[in-house]
Amino acid sequence: MATDPTEVQSDLKVSLWRGGAQGRYQDYAVPQRQNQTVLDVVTFVQRQLDPTLSYRFACRVGMCGSCAMTVNGRPRWTCRTHVSKVAEDGRLEIGPLENLPVIKDLTTDMSRFFERWRQAKGAFVPTTTRADPVAPIRPDSAIRIAADAAIECINCGVCYAACDTVRWNPDYLGPAALNRAWTLVNDARDGAGPERLQAVAARGGCHACHTHQSCQAHCPTALNPTASIAALKRRTVQAWLSGEIER
Ligand code: SF4
Ligand code: SF4
Ligand code: FES
Repeated sequence: MATDPTEVQSDLKVSLWRGGAQGRYQDYAVPQRQNQTVLDVVTFVQRQLDPTLSYRFACRVGMCGSCAMTVNGRPRWTCRTHVSKVAEDGRLEIGPLENLPVIKDLTTDMSRFFERWRQAKGAFVPTTTRADPVAPIRPDSAIRIAADAAIECINCGVCYAACDTVRWNPDYLGPAALNRAWTLVNDARDGAGPERLQAVAARGGCHACHTHQSCQAHCPTALNPTASIAALKRRTVQAWLSGEIER
């Protein structure tokens, strides 16, 4: 006989962070169901137990990156994390992402994260106009393959929350911004190459990375910011030696 996916199995013991930076964890009992995600649990609390709970989500399918939280000590997309994979003895502790200021409950202020993106010159700078023909870029060219390897970042902040260097070094641009910079360094259509290399070579840039690989280990889209940053280190040293950028 098929199992009813909505069948209540038992209550989960759920601790949710409430308040701002000086808040505390508060306990809730949430009915456990098959195929339940951590986002389902948070949504149940907000809709059934306490409508004042603040949290953020949009797509529910791993596309928008807005639902990231700390789940039993690890940053994750809550919409793509099944409770059955992460609950420990029927317990879940869900908090806001680390390394970002808490606005309220499970919601963090992402301004610093996106400011790092801007500092790393993470915006594409076109060299042609709409009136020009589309630039022919061979998909099998080495730089296009390098750009593609890092391009699927959705700005969820999971790697930023997992990075110890972000925690220790207030100047550090962080894995997502540097990964984005490496994508653009490899974009043959982009016109901000030297400025971007100068930006990521500065204090707090790629050379501050300690190669812990936490970013790679936690990225839900299996990107490898550590490899992008290592490549930026090599590329910026070449640029220094050739006089392309200043020391
Ligand atoms: S690199 Fe991965 S973990 Fe970091 S922001 Fe992008 S998608 Fe999220
Ligand atoms: S490899 Fe670099 S960016 Fe990634 S977690 Fe470690 S220090 Fe942070
Ligand atoms: S809600 Fe969009 S990635 Fe989770």
